[in-house]
Amino acid sequence: MSKEQDINIVRFGPEGEDERRGELIDLMNNCPIPKEELLLNTGLFLTPQTLSRVLYMDHLYKKILNTQGIVMEFGCRWGQNLSLFSSMRGIYEPFNRLRKIVGFDTFSGFVDVSDEDGGEMKKGAYSVTQGYEVYLDKLLKLQEQESPLDHLTKYELVKGDVCETVPQYIKDHPETIVALAYFDLDLYTPTKAVIDAIRDRIPKGAVIAFDEINDPACPGETLALLESFGINNFRIERYQYNARTSYFVYE
Ligand SMILES: C[S@@+](CC[C@H](N)C(=O)[O-])C[C@H]1O[C@@H](n2cnc3c(N)ncnc32)[C@H](O)[C@@H]1O
Repeated sequence: MSKEQDINIVRFGPEGEDERRGELIDLMNNCPIPKEELLLNTGLFLTPQTLSRVLYMDHLYKKILNTQGIVMEFGCRWGQNLSLFSSMRGIYEPFNRLRKIVGFDTFSGFVDVSDEDGGEMKKGAYSVTQGYEVYLDKLLKLQEQESPLDHLTKYELVKGDVCETVPQYIKDHPETIVALAYFDLDLYTPTKAVIDAIRDRIPKGAVIAFDEINDPACPGETLALLESFGINNFRIERYQYNARTSYFVYE
């Protein structure tokens, strides 16, 4: 495992991966494809790991098509999943104006860590570049314009500590029903706080997904699940093409 010092992320790749990826990134940065054809060819740079995550998000999204409610990602960071969900809405249910996609993050990394998180996670880790949420907002706006009903804004970015922003969001949007909750906060305290805040808003058939349960690097996420929903009550499924991620359908 190596650690990126600048933005402080935990990585699990083998030695030599950085050099190989570096070459791919150089090719991406120096791509000779003309601008007007670039977006059509972004698949050129998808590694199996990234593609398997895209397929996983697709797997989850398809499961909520018949369930009323919005999509919430807790810990959206650079926002790739939000963008994918937006495209999936455009593909699978272009006229579902109620399928809002809401991303929560501090956009400045972990607020704090607790004893339940083990020693691997560090305060301030997984931050983003200064003002990234402004960039992401523009990107999601444009992404939304690629699908029908683009005159309606159907996404939202909520900046701040989820322990405060999620309960506030529910207060401000009393109509909220959650069809898909994607947990990627990595930590015990915020994961538990969010589950407590949205628990009453989860209907049967909703998909509750976790990025890091059963992961020794982030024990806090499993502990939060254990204490809030329990793990005997649900079939905790994994997506066979992706090692880490898990989900259950709320029944
Ligand atoms: C592993 S990253 C998320 C990665 C992202 N979901 C993806 O798929 O690329 C974890 C994120 O959780 C956020 N986070 C952790 N604790 C938080 C809290 N209390 N409030 C808001 N965001 C938090 C971090 O800022 C970080 O962006």
